[in-house]
Amino acid sequence: MKPTEYIYLTPMPVRIWHWLNALGIVTLCITGLQIRFPEYVNIFGTYKAAIRLHNTAGIVVSISYFLWLFYYMFVTRSLAKLYVPNLEDIKRGFLRQALFYCFYYFKGSPNPHHETPDNKFNPLQKAGYLVIMLVLLPLVIFTGILIMNVAPLRELILVAGGIKMLVSAHYLIACSFLAFLFVHVYLATMGHTPFAHFKPMWTGWEESEGHH
Ligand code: HEM
Repeated sequence: MKPTEYIYLTPMPVRIWHWLNALGIVTLCITGLQIRFPEYVNIFGTYKAAIRLHNTAGIVVSISYFLWLFYYMFVTRSLAKLYVPNLEDIKRGFLRQALFYCFYYFKGSPNPHHETPDNKFNPLQKAGYLVIMLVLLPLVIFTGILIMNVAPLRELILVAGGIKMLVSAHYLIACSFLAFLFVHVYLATMGHTPFAHFKPMWTGWEESEGHH
């Protein structure tokens, strides 16, 4: 039997960002539920307490987002390489990966994508993470900052379509985050063992597939 190979996939700053961000987003979803449906949900005592925790978690998620962006853009400079699907991904990769997730995985076939530190995401991960990290997260942060500062940012809010429009957009984006979260956690269990993808998110090291 060949010895198990390990690859260093996830550097420490990304791991710290990821779990802080996950905690922040989960906190935002739960407090957001109480803020949106106060007549049905009361987890944090008062309405005011839910808003205070929601705002704090929002600030933590926003700051850690900009650190994440800075790290990938200026320290490792690998944002485009890791997160943007290439032509081959679009032509064949999306379909191949979707077939694996929906069909071949259940027949026991190996994942068609082989992770390396330079190409750690499969085509669908690239597309999904790109939309989440470069479209939805910035949008939810932007709308959140506006809603938190209604008085000083009045003019900007009017340009953005008014407070009702803003609150609806913030809520709809938040719903897509919740949907992403369930899919993300489910797909993350589809490694060669259920925790194979969780380990590198904690230790940085992934056991190379195919040596089991
Ligand atoms: C309970 C919550 C969460 C769990 C259990 C979880 C789990 C994981 C796992 C196991 C991975 C590594 C496997 C993979 O690359 O797919 C991962 C990566 C990732 N997750 Fe999550 N996640 C959570 C929340 C989130 C949230 C809320 C976001 C974004 C808003 C997010 C964004 C990402 C990104 C961008 C990566 C790739 C990171 C990189 O290596 O650059 N995750 N997550």
